[in-house]
Amino acid sequence: MDMQPIQARTGNHNMDNYKETYDQFNWEEAKSNFTWSETGKVNIAYEAIDKHAADPQKKNQVALVYSAPDREEELTFEDLKVKSDQFANVLKKHHINKGDRVFLFLPRSPEFYAAFLGILKVGAIAGPLFEAFMEQAVRDRLEDSEATMLITTPELLERVPVDELPHLKQIVLVGGEAPGNYISYDEEMADASKDFEIEWVDLEDGMLLHYTSGSTGKPKGVYHVHNAMIQHYQTGKWVLDLKEDDIYWCTADPGWVTGTSYGIFAPWLNGVTNVIRGGRFSPDDWYNTIAEKNVSVWYSAPTAFRKLLSAGEEAAERHDLSSLRHILSVGEPLNPEVITWGLKAFDLRIHDTWWMTETGGMLICNYPAMDMRPGSMGKPFPGIVASIVDNEGNELPPNQMGNLAIKEGWPSMMRAIWNNPGKFESYFMNGWYVSGDSAYKDEDGYFWFQGRLDDVINTSGERVGPFEVESKLIEHEAVAEAGVIGKPDPERGEIIKAFVTLREGYQESDDLLEDIRQFVKKGLSAHAAPREIEIKETIPKTRSGKIMRRLLKSWELGLPTGDTSTLEE
Ligand code: WT7
Repeated sequence: MDMQPIQARTGNHNMDNYKETYDQFNWEEAKSNFTWSETGKVNIAYEAIDKHAADPQKKNQVALVYSAPDREEELTFEDLKVKSDQFANVLKKHHINKGDRVFLFLPRSPEFYAAFLGILKVGAIAGPLFEAFMEQAVRDRLEDSEATMLITTPELLERVPVDELPHLKQIVLVGGEAPGNYISYDEEMADASKDFEIEWVDLEDGMLLHYTSGSTGKPKGVYHVHNAMIQHYQTGKWVLDLKEDDIYWCTADPGWVTGTSYGIFAPWLNGVTNVIRGGRFSPDDWYNTIAEKNVSVWYSAPTAFRKLLSAGEEAAERHDLSSLRHILSVGEPLNPEVITWGLKAFDLRIHDTWWMTETGGMLICNYPAMDMRPGSMGKPFPGIVASIVDNEGNELPPNQMGNLAIKEGWPSMMRAIWNNPGKFESYFMNGWYVSGDSAYKDEDGYFWFQGRLDDVINTSGERVGPFEVESKLIEHEAVAEAGVIGKPDPERGEIIKAFVTLREGYQESDDLLEDIRQFVKKGLSAHAAPREIEIKETIPKTRSGKIMRRLLKSWELGLPTGDTSTLEE
């Protein structure tokens, strides 16, 4: 679908003077917004919460609007400061110190946010786990990070193999009874002092571990440091276009990086009221959230927009969506059709943004004051140098497809892959961070996404590693071998399709396929369970034993199979 550019809409946006700002900006100056410039020390939780709680003009402003089917709650900046100070005291009492890994396996809730901020306040490293993870996914992350404390609920605790995690010494339970050695969140919070001396840290000290999937091996711990606040603040201001009286809603779960960088840091660093919605997706509930909470800036994902689109115009018309003034998207390609729908449904442009767990913050974006070319991810953020490189790291001319790469050294770049320096190194070539996405740049500097270069699957905006799913599949008693690919899907972007061979004595049946599906769902997570499973006689492999997922994909899509010279006999 080829569409005309959509004109910039200027008028009272933070980046209306886009070109000048762009030319003048440098990251060093952006640092001056934080205590670092005065004291040489920082804490991202101070900048996000305590700073506003200390400001008489802001302390009573609502920081968090929590809304779930069974619970509504509002917390001011002062409330959040007190609760996170209290939780920091609980952590100190249980000997949690700077650098320790404290994981959260909790539904989105006010407790999650108080605990998360408390962890940062003691200088520890927070590891948020997506609530839908099942045992294997939880185990992999706790094992690799050697987390010493986990904060969870009695229900979710059932998915934590506590006895098999030697480093995990302490468990905090939110809600319900806390038997024996467990720590009760409610009891300890009730007793905890409301004053806490925040741990001042260096910009390069760790704050966050987000596990993400690659094409091989187990999920990798992407390690972020306090310095990321510079990027979270600045992109919040210029891309999310946040202003102090905005009511902002990011729909992502804090188990994924969008839900921390832009569901916690960017809005609060900018002193903005942040809406958090619990519960599942439904078009009416989502529109209701916008209408009831008067959401003005909304950051979501193509998969959600496509679902709203297919719910029809009536669904939108039932609600008053006039509070909205700015909409953004991330996670997968934003279809021009969706932009056209957005113009009709909201009379607003939907602004695509591109980045990754590893980049910690937005890198390529569309701004209010920029002409938008539907289908393009936009242009690099000021201070970001992006390019298209070949496999040796040489820059390619405009309109040539290659690896999307970023010049090393932006503020929110990951600083390590936990326990895996070799993997970390492998992202960099010739001074470039190489993203694993293929793209091209047009003559005017707009970037256009083409696809993943590796086998990573992007289903409903979530990254799933084929290797993880394959590993789980072959644990099923009936499965001998498995190969997993992403299959294009109009609503979900891609769905997970598995090809499996059966062990001796097993016959294909609908029941068996469903059983295999459920096995992955219960063992790993719902979003990693294959929607389609096909039984094969053999799985194509290279002579060195690697599954040839590319070949499976070509078969599936009826495409030419390309070079098969390494295929095993
Ligand atoms: C991968 C990163 C950090 C945002 C949430 C996803 C794909 C992300 C776009 C976009 C096309 C996109 C890429 C990227 N992706 N944004 N605007 N257009 N593709 O983070 O789980 O680390 O996934 O998501 O393939 O590499 P993630």
